[in-house]
Amino acid sequence: MRFEDNITLTHTDRGTPMGDLFRHFWMPALLSEELPANDCPPVRVKLLGEELVAFRDTEGKIGLLDAFCPHRRAELYLGRNEGSGLRCAYHGWKFDVNGKCMDLPTEECGERLTERMCTKAYPTMEHGGIVWAYMGPEEQPADAPGFDFCLVKPEQRYVSKCLMKCNYLQALEGSIDYSHISYLHKDLKSESAKVDVFGLGELIKYSEEDGRPTIFVDRVEHGLQIAARRNADENSYYWRIARWLMPCFVIVPTAPENVCRANLFVPIDDENCWWYRIRWHAERALTEKEIDGYKNGAFDYAELIPGTYLPRGSRENDYLQNRLIQRSQSYTGIPSAQLQDLAVQESQGRIHDRSRERLVKTDIPIVQCRRLLLEAADECRNGKAPAIASRPDVYGGRAYAITRPREMALARIREELSG
Ligand code: FES
Ligand SMILES: [Fe+2]
Repeated sequence: MRFEDNITLTHTDRGTPMGDLFRHFWMPALLSEELPANDCPPVRVKLLGEELVAFRDTEGKIGLLDAFCPHRRAELYLGRNEGSGLRCAYHGWKFDVNGKCMDLPTEECGERLTERMCTKAYPTMEHGGIVWAYMGPEEQPADAPGFDFCLVKPEQRYVSKCLMKCNYLQALEGSIDYSHISYLHKDLKSESAKVDVFGLGELIKYSEEDGRPTIFVDRVEHGLQIAARRNADENSYYWRIARWLMPCFVIVPTAPENVCRANLFVPIDDENCWWYRIRWHAERALTEKEIDGYKNGAFDYAELIPGTYLPRGSRENDYLQNRLIQRSQSYTGIPSAQLQDLAVQESQGRIHDRSRERLVKTDIPIVQCRRLLLEAADECRNGKAPAIASRPDVYGGRAYAITRPREMALARIREELSG
């Protein structure tokens, strides 16, 4: 990859090609749970390199404003959230969720002056336990993406986030990299000592037995459909068919009866991103055991520092790697699949230099994803907004991990799954 293309792909500040492309999409700004009540304390938000402040007003509406007061740039985060607006702590100027100046107590002033003192505000909507923000051109798309997890009842889903100290793209690439599962997440324990946590037995078994998946990638309306085929028994294949949705969302394949999964990799700035992880079941509430496992860092969730969204494992403590465990129990000796992903992806550098890679056949999904993003950013530069951004409907659906007879072609499997 050319060095310049790597810059284009990884920079998302306003005015950069990728930054302008991303701003056509509704983006996760924070979790709903971060603003648990009306008039609760505001929250600092950084999204696509912009410093913002989020608050829930007296009526429950959510504002997402420029972090700094238009008067003399004090941080609105320090202010008072009261009476349907956020009041700056420095001189008491007050703003509503639309950024309109409601009060300017230091001045004797008319409507014209308060109007002039308005601040930047982005439209928000709450959807699936996430507060989404639209930071793009005025004519805003119809709706936030219609992910299936947004349509189920709150008890049927679990939404969380975790900080990654690296660029969004290497995090996203990890989620559509279907050969690493056989190594990075390998369990070295004896057959009898392995526990099938959360119905992932098939995934673990087949990815261990066949470390050379055959990968098929197709461009579809929402981005890419990525199929990884592994040998199951002599008559069948184990298929994992993932979906990457523009610009940074992935639906991870799961067995039809299992809890579904999605990953959203949201740029905070060029060197940090949030990994939003969603689990949902289309038909039933999640069990206490499932939720407990997600919350307490069991098996595939990284343990968080209590009261934060920061993982306990980090570069400073070698991601809690235990070299003894690495010898006999797990490929990495790092606890939880999420922390394993985080460790290798952060280890690529804050912004991974793609001009120094040596790619092979199993990296095709990553190559295709980069190509599509570059093409879309280029079109955006030339005035063609991404059509997909105003199609919330194509974000619905799930992704499957299934075993099928070897003679069954992928096209036929796709047909079966879509019908
Ligand atoms: S800096 Fe905010 S009111 Fe003066
Ligand atoms: Fe992984």
